[in-house]
Amino acid sequence: ADTDPQHYFTALIEADQKIEPRDWMPDAYRKTLIRQIAQHAHSEIIGMQPEGNWISRAPSLGRKAILLAKVQDEAGHGLYLYAAAETLGVTRDELVELLLTGRQKYSSIFNYPTLGWADVGAIGWLVDGAAIVNQVPLCRCSYGPYARAMIRVCKEESFHQRQGYEILHRLASGTPAQRAMAQDAVDRWWYPSLAMFGPPDTDSTHSQQSMAWKIKRFSNDDLRQRFVDMCVQQAGVLDLRLPDPDLRWNEQRQAYDYTQPDYAELMRVISGDGPCNRQRIDHRRRAHADGSWVREAAAAYTAKRQREDRP
Ligand code: ACO
Repeated sequence: ADTDPQHYFTALIEADQKIEPRDWMPDAYRKTLIRQIAQHAHSEIIGMQPEGNWISRAPSLGRKAILLAKVQDEAGHGLYLYAAAETLGVTRDELVELLLTGRQKYSSIFNYPTLGWADVGAIGWLVDGAAIVNQVPLCRCSYGPYARAMIRVCKEESFHQRQGYEILHRLASGTPAQRAMAQDAVDRWWYPSLAMFGPPDTDSTHSQQSMAWKIKRFSNDDLRQRFVDMCVQQAGVLDLRLPDPDLRWNEQRQAYDYTQPDYAELMRVISGDGPCNRQRIDHRRRAHADGSWVREAAAAYTAKRQREDRP
């Protein structure tokens, strides 16, 4: 029998089977998964901030309860994903340290400000909508723990997307001032949402290898196109305009032609120079420091239980 671990790994990938934590895997596969899952986890955690900004100012008690639940879900997704990354041999402490010192990235989108209540709607519709388009294929990712985590995350993301869509729908069918708020939010969030899918395929460092390993199942540009096509329909129902004068159906491609986001801006935001990068990281550092007593208390409690020999 062929006992070469590299052959076994390749055969599993080819057969669309899952790689599990105890299986042999190439170092580069492990490394790219840690990078992607950690960046994903950090995005969920940092992503609590833009909307958290509106919890205390939500327009009704009902809206507040929904938003609170949504932001708590994001925290849950972050913890879930850190746990998935830990199966690859890193610790959560290491990953948190890499985030706080800026050595690992999080999604560009969370460096934009939430200026009004309608932004909460636009984030749900566009940002969570983009997240779903990107993450549903990750449910079929070749790494078992990541793929399984994505199933639950995607279910919750669909609820998030619906709640945003519903907020915009209410505003768009409200007074002229409410409609204007909704349109303004869509105008500001459209291009940053398109940029979430990453650089164009020609500039994407990892896509080719990640697709060969079936970590990514579609390229950045393919997913971006899928997202655009979906949004055009939904914007029609909302009766809101997508801020792209060149958006039009291309009969030949059976897809919409659209204006690309500003990739130079994406690179600036990724490298730390977006509208809110400083604020987001400062806030996270402060929250982490303020939470140290919780971690100490939890560790002391566990130590006590162990001394008393209780599970
Ligand atoms: N924001 C920040 N960094 C980005 C973004 C972005 N929108 N897009 C790409 N990058 C980074 C990549 O991490 C990579 O950086 P690195 O080499 O220093 O690690 C570099 O830009 C080049 O990009 P790619 O080679 O295309 O990177 P990759 O193959 O990892 O594709 C993608 C990027 C599509 C974001 C992929 O990592 C992915 O699908 N991640 C999982 C989903 C995710 O993280 N979502 C977070 C936002 S959604 C949410 O949390 C609600």
